[in-house]
Amino acid sequence: MFDKNLIDLSVMSTEQIDKIIRKAKKIMQSPADYRHACDGKILATLFYEPSTRTQMSFQTAMLKLGGRTIGFDNPMNSSVSKGESLKDTITIVGEYADIIAIRHPVEGTAAAASLYAGVPVINCGDGGHLHPTQTLADIITLSCEKGRLDNLRVGVCGDLLNGRTVHSLIKTLAKYPNNSFVLISTKELSVPLYVIDILEKNGCKYEISHSLADAITDLDVLYMTRIQRERFASEEDYQAQKNVFVLDKEKLDKAKENMIILHPLPRVNEITVDIDDDPRALYFKQAQYGMYGRMALILLLLQDDEFFVENRPFV
Ligand code: CP
Repeated sequence: MFDKNLIDLSVMSTEQIDKIIRKAKKIMQSPADYRHACDGKILATLFYEPSTRTQMSFQTAMLKLGGRTIGFDNPMNSSVSKGESLKDTITIVGEYADIIAIRHPVEGTAAAASLYAGVPVINCGDGGHLHPTQTLADIITLSCEKGRLDNLRVGVCGDLLNGRTVHSLIKTLAKYPNNSFVLISTKELSVPLYVIDILEKNGCKYEISHSLADAITDLDVLYMTRIQRERFASEEDYQAQKNVFVLDKEKLDKAKENMIILHPLPRVNEITVDIDDDPRALYFKQAQYGMYGRMALILLLLQDDEFFVENRPFV
């Protein structure tokens, strides 16, 4: 089935992805040109899980485009608390809004929502599965700050099992030539096998490491992630994993001068705050780039008839 949704960025062609990046850069250069681009349009943000950046940057993006927003950030304040099904909620909201951005703790929910919405649906995170608009923020940062999306040696570090941003990023960067990956995690929080399969299918080189200090020396990009406390079966399991990988000045001293540090945020304590002033620390800028990426995405989904995205349920 083909439809105008964004469920998984990696099912898009690199030409389509590059089109979003180009659009985001145009908006960045001249934001005032777009302030009436979505006059009269409504974005619904349905967040069944907490968020700061994704929800607010989508809301800001729509407001900056001249549109308006509706939605909830606590489903218990909606009729979900009375037992309303996803199908019914989405069917109704699809009548009110022109586009829906949804985050949900269950994998595959955004894909399911896209079956009922009748308007474009954007996956803002489905459980530990995917987070495509975070990947947009990540690759716009790479494009602007490294000047390329290929020939990169990328270290991803932390909770590679539950970190949906990591899965989306690896799947997307695997589409570009000559990227290689260093997967830095404990054995328990290794990247899922289906992601490894994708790397192998795309002919990408990858290494598995259990030492950030060793892996950091030859990276172009270090992508740090939080240990996802909310996805652990017990507090004890979480306590055993937290603080295993912490990027501090001592480790950063071993990195290349032009390596960049990314993090989808929120940070807990996996990057010490004294690194924030290092010019390589780009995680706050990355969040700014994300807003422009979301403006570009809204515009393309609402206004560009050529911009179709294959809507496979999920991989
Ligand atoms: N990166 C990200 O998804 O942040 P939020 O959870 O604050 O939206």
